[in-house]
Amino acid sequence: MLSEQHKLIQDLARSFAQKEISMYAKALDAEGKFPTEIIQKLAALGLMGISVPQSDGGSGLDHLSYVLALEEIAVACASTAVIMSVNNSLVCEPLLLFGSEAQKKKYLVPLASGKQLGCFCLSEPDAGSDAGNQQTVAQKKEGKYILTGTKNFITNGPQADIAIVFAKTDRTLKKKGISAFVVEKKWPGIEVGKIEKKMGIRASGCSQVIFQDVEVPAENLLGEEGQGFKIALRTLDSGRIGIGAQSVGIARAALEAATAYAKERKQFGQPIFEFQAIQWMLADMATQIDAARLLVHRAAILQGANHSFSKEAAMAKLYASQTAMKVTTDAIQIFGGYGYTQDYPVERFFRDAKITEIYEGTSEIQRLVIAAHL
Ligand code: CAA
Repeated sequence: MLSEQHKLIQDLARSFAQKEISMYAKALDAEGKFPTEIIQKLAALGLMGISVPQSDGGSGLDHLSYVLALEEIAVACASTAVIMSVNNSLVCEPLLLFGSEAQKKKYLVPLASGKQLGCFCLSEPDAGSDAGNQQTVAQKKEGKYILTGTKNFITNGPQADIAIVFAKTDRTLKKKGISAFVVEKKWPGIEVGKIEKKMGIRASGCSQVIFQDVEVPAENLLGEEGQGFKIALRTLDSGRIGIGAQSVGIARAALEAATAYAKERKQFGQPIFEFQAIQWMLADMATQIDAARLLVHRAAILQGANHSFSKEAAMAKLYASQTAMKVTTDAIQIFGGYGYTQDYPVERFFRDAKITEIYEGTSEIQRLVIAAHL
């Protein structure tokens, strides 16, 4: 059972998603247009830094509130959900956990209140699943770090004001030589590179971010030198719960559309909902979505209780993303030929679902993380 406070945040996000997002989602996807105004409104509602204390610019709610809100936003628009998720989990969270008081004041407050937008620069052309294989370097020189390298597939890359950037401060130490930095994107030497044309979540920005001899003040080191890889993995644990919630939202949108369609579409003289083949598909979809949601909520509750939650986050992300893929595939099957066209939203849900099995750690990586805990 959800508490009254949890129901309130769920209702707030649901009503906003239905009134202010869902009618624009199709056009945003078709045009690949970043939803600037929607993100501003999400910020005004306090949804860009949900679990950050109010004193640091956030809403001061727990992690369960975060996933409840994110699911509702994802039902309406998966692109908007990932923009929100990256800012909340991958940017605000490491600043909250590892940032100095000065960093929190300067960067976390505007990010958590949604006045600024963040991105997370870990992936590189040769460091995807093997995130430890960082080639970006940050060389210490006269009290500064000189940052050089290329980051790939950066969600919010084109729009972000602030980037959490991972780079090697000591190449000889491999993963233990990686450090994290808070970087202002307006600094000289930073360029947005190739903008990706994606299959799904087309309204969210995704690009290379290129750093060429960028001068980073020493006080912008996040945590300690050499702590970067652990900061990245700890941050991703949290991010994966968010992607689990996004997946549940996408799957729910597909189930709701397929159920409504099955009740109105007639073949052989009756609504196709009356056929057991369709009922079984819908029943499996509903069951898998509930199971996925419970895994997501468990991980969020464990995180909020300061319990270890790495395995549970990986399970939630693995199961929820696979559920999103299965449910959206079956939803298209229920729509038949119409489902394969852009006249109905299920083809968008299907395209949006696929990325959830890839970003913030592929399904194969989630299994590695889970297996490591067995
Ligand atoms: N939290 C903190 N520390 C952790 C950790 C965690 N969850 N998991 C492991 N560590 C520590 C280990 O204890 C170890 O520390 P010691 O060396 O002191 O013992 C250290 O980190 C290294 O651990 P491993 O040797 O196990 O690391 P590995 O190189 O084998 O990698 C991995 C493990 C799970 C494969 C990891 O590389 C991984 O998660 N890869 C996937 C990367 C990923 O998810 N990328 C997503 C990019 S971001 C994105 O998609 C965002 C977006 O735009 C939407």
